[in-house]
Amino acid sequence: MTVVMGIETSCDETGVGFVEDGVLLGDALASSMDEHARFGGVVPEIAARAHLQAMVPTVRAALDKAGLGLDDVGAVAVTAGPGLATALHVGVAAAKSYALALGVPLYGVHHLAGHAAADTLEHGSLPDRSVALIVSGGHTSLLFVRDLVRTPIVHLSDTFDDAAGEAFDKVARLIGLPYPGGPSIDRAAREGNAGAVAFPRPLTAPGDPELGFSFSGLKTAVARYVEKHPDTDVNDVAASFQEAVADVLTTKALRACRREEVDTLVVVGGVAANSRIRALAQERCDTAGVELRIPPMRLCTDNGAMIAAIGDLLVRDGAKPSGLEFSAVPTIELQQAQLC
Ligand code: KG4
Ligand code: ZN
Repeated sequence: MTVVMGIETSCDETGVGFVEDGVLLGDALASSMDEHARFGGVVPEIAARAHLQAMVPTVRAALDKAGLGLDDVGAVAVTAGPGLATALHVGVAAAKSYALALGVPLYGVHHLAGHAAADTLEHGSLPDRSVALIVSGGHTSLLFVRDLVRTPIVHLSDTFDDAAGEAFDKVARLIGLPYPGGPSIDRAAREGNAGAVAFPRPLTAPGDPELGFSFSGLKTAVARYVEKHPDTDVNDVAASFQEAVADVLTTKALRACRREEVDTLVVVGGVAANSRIRALAQERCDTAGVELRIPPMRLCTDNGAMIAAIGDLLVRDGAKPSGLEFSAVPTIELQQAQLC
């Protein structure tokens, strides 16, 4: 059996994890989130510099947690894309250095495949057929998944404009809540009334694309509402907005399950950490007789364990290593778990 080291640097988290045969041995995370807060969003140069500083200490911290030494590492997996170019370069360069120094194979992997693989650390292998809802800061997609590393991943739909996480971040800014917006809105919403404002449910009218998403109109609706009601309760707006997103995401995810005739829904990515989305997805899956799989909250947002998890699946499947010549790929749709 092979211990796989996973390295993630696609955005503002430096993540390192160790997985062997589907089991998470230990992981560690450093974040430059606080350095971006005053800019209201991630500044790529700041993120890249923070990755450079955090990389080796985070590897050491993860090794300690796993009770391993570098000599135990049998393969390295790294996020090759998508993500911020300068941030990805740091992880890819570090992963190449470790692979070269240790004389072990290297795998360049797709960040979103990592998000999906995170769930296997908690709930074991995915079933033969499932629908995955990937909701992150940069992506919102419904996918038909068979074998994560063997079978091409089929896109059932993507967002036409903003990603769900992007909508959370932008709406938080509009209503004066701190970056990152998702967790801020989640917290504020607990004190608010989700029925206070009837925000629109985009693309749910008859004739609209059945599985398509769009969040920029919803964001504009929130902007209009707060313009017209300057004294409104921020918690009510947060709760009502969150309810609209949760409603649309879960309605369409279950529609996709029905259409594809699958009985497992996997919800992954940073926005899958949202408490209302988790609860509503569970409620609706129970009613529909669909099994819901969501990773534990700390494995929903970016981390190194999920990259080690997809690397471990590739290694066990006998995939050909990526070599040392590949570069980061900042923009690429998820079709294959291995990118290079
Ligand atoms: O997957 P992720 O960590 O990074 C990307 O690959 O983009 O997702 C980050 C996104 C951010 O937009 C953040 O606001 C959102 O996930 N997020 C949440 C929550 N926690 C993180 N959105 C809603 N509720 C949360 N609790
Ligand atoms: Zn992510």
